[in-house]
Amino acid sequence: MNTEPRPVAAADRDREAAVHKALSQLSLPAKVALLAGADMWSLPANEDIGLGRLVMSDGPAGVRGEQWTPDDPSIAIPSPTALAATWDVDLARRVGRLLAQEARRKGAHVVLAPTVNLHRTPRGGRHFECYSEDPLLTGDIGAALVAGVQDGGVATTPKHFVANDSETDRFTVDVRLDDRTLRELYLAPFEAIVRKAGPWGLMASYNQVNGAGMTENSTLNNGVLRAEWGFDGVLVSDWTGARDTVRCALGGLDIAMPGPVTVYGEHLVTAVREGRVPEPTVDDLARRVLRLAARVGLLEGAPAAVPADRLPAAIDGEALAREVAERSFVLLRNEGGALPLARSARVALIGAAAVQARIGGGGSAQVFPTRVITPLDGLRAAGVEVTYALGADPLVHLAPVAVPLTALLQDAAGEVLATTVVPDGSVRWIGQLPGRVDFSELAAATLTGTLVPQGSGVHRFAVRGVGRFCLEVDGRVLFDDVLELDGDDPAAAFLAPPERVFAVELAAGRAVEISLGHTLPEASGVAGFGLVSFTLGHAAPTRTEEQLIEEAVEAARAAEVAVVIVGTTEEVESEGVDRADLALPGRQDDLVHRVAEANPNTVVVVNSGAPVLMPWRGSVAAVLLTWFPGQEAGHALADVLLGRTEPGGRLPTTWPAEAADTPVLRVEPHDGVLPYDEGLFVGYRAWQRGAAEPAYWFGHGLGYTEWAYEGLEVRRVEDPTDEDPYGTAAEVTVWVRNTGERPGRETVQIYLAHDGADPSRPDRHLAGFTTVEAAAGDRVAARTRIPLRAFQTWDTAAEGWRLRPGVYGVEAGRSAADRRLSVALDVPLHG
Ligand code: BGC
Repeated sequence: MNTEPRPVAAADRDREAAVHKALSQLSLPAKVALLAGADMWSLPANEDIGLGRLVMSDGPAGVRGEQWTPDDPSIAIPSPTALAATWDVDLARRVGRLLAQEARRKGAHVVLAPTVNLHRTPRGGRHFECYSEDPLLTGDIGAALVAGVQDGGVATTPKHFVANDSETDRFTVDVRLDDRTLRELYLAPFEAIVRKAGPWGLMASYNQVNGAGMTENSTLNNGVLRAEWGFDGVLVSDWTGARDTVRCALGGLDIAMPGPVTVYGEHLVTAVREGRVPEPTVDDLARRVLRLAARVGLLEGAPAAVPADRLPAAIDGEALAREVAERSFVLLRNEGGALPLARSARVALIGAAAVQARIGGGGSAQVFPTRVITPLDGLRAAGVEVTYALGADPLVHLAPVAVPLTALLQDAAGEVLATTVVPDGSVRWIGQLPGRVDFSELAAATLTGTLVPQGSGVHRFAVRGVGRFCLEVDGRVLFDDVLELDGDDPAAAFLAPPERVFAVELAAGRAVEISLGHTLPEASGVAGFGLVSFTLGHAAPTRTEEQLIEEAVEAARAAEVAVVIVGTTEEVESEGVDRADLALPGRQDDLVHRVAEANPNTVVVVNSGAPVLMPWRGSVAAVLLTWFPGQEAGHALADVLLGRTEPGGRLPTTWPAEAADTPVLRVEPHDGVLPYDEGLFVGYRAWQRGAAEPAYWFGHGLGYTEWAYEGLEVRRVEDPTDEDPYGTAAEVTVWVRNTGERPGRETVQIYLAHDGADPSRPDRHLAGFTTVEAAAGDRVAARTRIPLRAFQTWDTAAEGWRLRPGVYGVEAGRSAADRRLSVALDVPLHG
């Protein structure tokens, strides 16, 4: 199959010539060496052809770099759900440029982002990391982010290609779905991004699709992605996702990550020599890797895609993180104008997340910022008089002990390889060890330090991790045994490790020695992953749950306004695990009920990346979603609560009232198979047919002003070119008036409804959107366009897209349910 269909544009000719020349100088082993990680994050250099070391880095909410520790801090932007909630492609592009700037600062050439799987179900553990339940919104935000990163001369890898929409058994799950569903929903964002933004990379997912592993899926990788869509970038495996030399090479997988132990390397050389993989196939893979290197400026003699003098202007990362957060917050409910608050209001701030803001989701998307502005910091900095009460602590696991500890790294003979200081009781060395110690030599790591208890009573200590541990407190051995990994996901060792907790009576002020020794598991998946991750946890004596709630109720009663911050924890919302249910963890629902009884001016702020159930939503004054708001969380929250800025977000996903009403809840495969039986009916496409009402519809969100929809005009473009499915098929103008008393921003959404004659089609789908601003009283025109693809469906028998003629309703509105205006549009069969 010809996998290089796209003609090389004139501007790229020099680069292609340099790539060709470099390739022609390489022996088979040298070509193969380009196709696998040299370590956790990089591809090897080759001085003979002037090729530099190519570094990749996670991920969508910031660029972590080669360290997985706070030692190498990054700007932490809000979670991808938040970015999608802005419905603003220009903002997404600016975020992309910031990611490129961060990547350059950290010496990375590829950002492993964006995550463009769909919100098929709110139980998906990486929901926070994906954009939306809608493929158009996902594709548009994703394409803008990719374009922004590439504006900065840095590559992206939209991920995870494809149908990686939940985490249960993610390494092996076989997702079964029909072609139409695959095309119209799950491939759709990837197609839009590839065709519109031309990403220089893409990441193949762990799972299988209809029986074929995605790192080996020639039909989708070589056929659809390359031959049909014209993708000319590299396809990199998800970490440890490449499992078979021949099938991966023939399946179009260019890069196996991480290294140095992979199914490529000498295995691939042998496979070529034995005739199991044709050498021209290896040439194709190597050519694409060289092209990537050339694009990012790592191949001598090849012009980089973005010359140094054309890089975008510097971006203030903290300011942009704050702007995105403010623009993403979704105001779901605001009774009697409860928000914005008066600056003079006396506020009782309640909740664990008010002082330990959950700024990002767990897993590979995690980055470590230099600072975190908590809600308490933000409100105080804004001059608000605040009292604070914890109310409820939803964390099940103990936090790392909050004292600096010395870490000792030893080999099998007990020889000390390195010592280092860790800021608290958590160790997370991934891909790299302190002192550049070689992973193969490391046999044990021990943390030691001194804790001076603040309070007398029962302190709890925890050991969390995988392997052999010895925990000692005050001269007593509390644990000396092995903790085993559940399942076969190596990442689970740091995403969801087992924990054991022990109680010790301690006296305030009397210093005690604490230590946790760890012997690494031998030859396990964990060791192969280059990972050392464990925690010495600690919790000081605390009040009972009931006492904590009582304190919060008292604080609420004494204040004019109660602001309760509730949310999920890393334990329930993270890569590597799906959510067991949609309830807020711990006693948080009780807390809100009780506070709302005590103070009618209760504002609930929800700090979660994905939908949670809010059984109290009808009895509180206001509900504001902040997603995972990034490092400037508290400043953004103060700005929005006090009305310095409007909450600009709209839901990128429908929020259910009851878990049981949710169209798709099942994420557990049966005999390894996860059927997408619901077909096209996910998210609002399903809700609009169901008996139940969701709590809040896709697209919903209030601002601080009111809008009237005054006019809608649709103009069909006569001959949209068949070649470009994203070309304009219709132009839409919506006149909206700001009828409130302050300036505001409106997100105008265009839905396309068909006549209902074809039950296989969802009643309506999002076909366009735009945001506009207007001063109080002003009327503005919101102009947007509907792409040809919005009128097409996938024809399985003909294996192609088909225009669906008919009379469509073009509807303009504020959510999938709140549609204010509609005009009929006749689409004849043509072109
Ligand atoms: C995740 C990817 C990530 C990679 C590297 C994998 O477990 O699925 O999204 O980029 O690890 O951290």
